[in-house]
Amino acid sequence: MNVYDSQLIAKFLIKNGFSSVNTPEDADIIFINTCSVREHAETRAFGRIASLNRLKIDNPNLKLFVVGCMAKRMEEKIWTKFPFVNFIVGPDNYRKIPDLLNDSITRGIFTTENNSEKYTGCIASNDRKVSSFIAVTRGCNNFCSYCIVPYLRGRERSRNHKDIMREITLKAFEGVKEIILLGQNVNSYNYGVVNFAGLLKMVQTVPQIERARFITSHPKDVTDELLDIISSSDKICNHLHLPLQSGSNRILSLMNRQYTREYYIKLVEKIRGKLQSVAITTDILVGFPTEKEEDFKATLDIIRRIRFDFAYMFRYSKREGTRAAELGDIPEKIKGERLKEVIALQNKITKDKNSELVGKSVQVLVEAKSRRADEFYGKTKENKAVVLSGNVQIGDIVNVKVSEIRGWTPYGKVVYE
Ligand code: 5AD
Ligand code: SF4
Repeated sequence: MNVYDSQLIAKFLIKNGFSSVNTPEDADIIFINTCSVREHAETRAFGRIASLNRLKIDNPNLKLFVVGCMAKRMEEKIWTKFPFVNFIVGPDNYRKIPDLLNDSITRGIFTTENNSEKYTGCIASNDRKVSSFIAVTRGCNNFCSYCIVPYLRGRERSRNHKDIMREITLKAFEGVKEIILLGQNVNSYNYGVVNFAGLLKMVQTVPQIERARFITSHPKDVTDELLDIISSSDKICNHLHLPLQSGSNRILSLMNRQYTREYYIKLVEKIRGKLQSVAITTDILVGFPTEKEEDFKATLDIIRRIRFDFAYMFRYSKREGTRAAELGDIPEKIKGERLKEVIALQNKITKDKNSELVGKSVQVLVEAKSRRADEFYGKTKENKAVVLSGNVQIGDIVNVKVSEIRGWTPYGKVVYE
């Protein structure tokens, strides 16, 4: 979402006559877009902000903006700790940015919760030429007990499908082949009579768009209607990102996830029954307050049973103001050990699953040049990264015969059928 928001801000600037430069030294305005989901991201952002002070000495006209969730959560700290920062602008306040670019105002904080911002008429610029993000929902109403997002990004809102379709059509004309619909919980998209399945139906009518993806789906909101539309469409990719978080019912309940491990296992069985060669990826959060060895074992067990194609794995990071913050914290050492163990298990599964592709032919959208000069990088419909060689151009959709696994990445040559 932050990548998309940065593109949105970039478009506001381009409209006002600005253009992007390649190095911070050449810039007259710098935006630091921040995330508050975990403490680690905040610590890094602080380091980055501090490092920009030296540019201000060389270029006193330089304007520094801190935007994103941390701008809202830590406005006072940023304001006092970094007096060289000009503007602190929180989520859903970005329309104010163009007004801050003239010289009549030099410092300010703009972080009020703005649930009425539906991004009507906004189109983001397109940095990723072949594959592009499009926000369809904003905010979140789920209030998982560990998560700061609902407090910083406000209530869930769906964007008008007419705006979404306008943005997709414009991007299609710019050469975009794949769009990734974004939201904290895309499955609860609802604008007038259009739900998420309805939105996907519309999206696949854009001729130049070859593929549509979406992230993130809350497991409690995956409907049969959604699975049916994925199964009947050759454009909507057979990949679901379904954050599990934990395999322990006790922890899931404390997390306020609103499902049990049995429900999740049944859901995965249903998805795999309905959708051919579907990929299921997930988020795992270890070290939630009060997590015991037996809770963690239940997480390892469900990971072994389900065999996710890929997982993002995190250690719990206490967020002040959330309900989980009142439940205490378990020692960092235990969190670290558990994270290591879960990563080792999932990495092995990811590699084993990718190895199953050796000898098979997969359809790849070529996204970029790879590190080696004669090789390219792309993704399968299941969202698996593949390195390939052959006579191709970025934006092509090609068949690749996988011949080996490098690290855990499938590699192969293009086959012409
Ligand atoms: N600590 C660690 N990870 C978190 N996530 C959300 N909040 C926290 C937190 N306090 C993770 C969840 C979520 C992903 C986007 O970030 O796994 O699915
Ligand atoms: Fe956070 Fe839960 Fe909302 Fe995801 S669904 S953004 S984890 S509150």
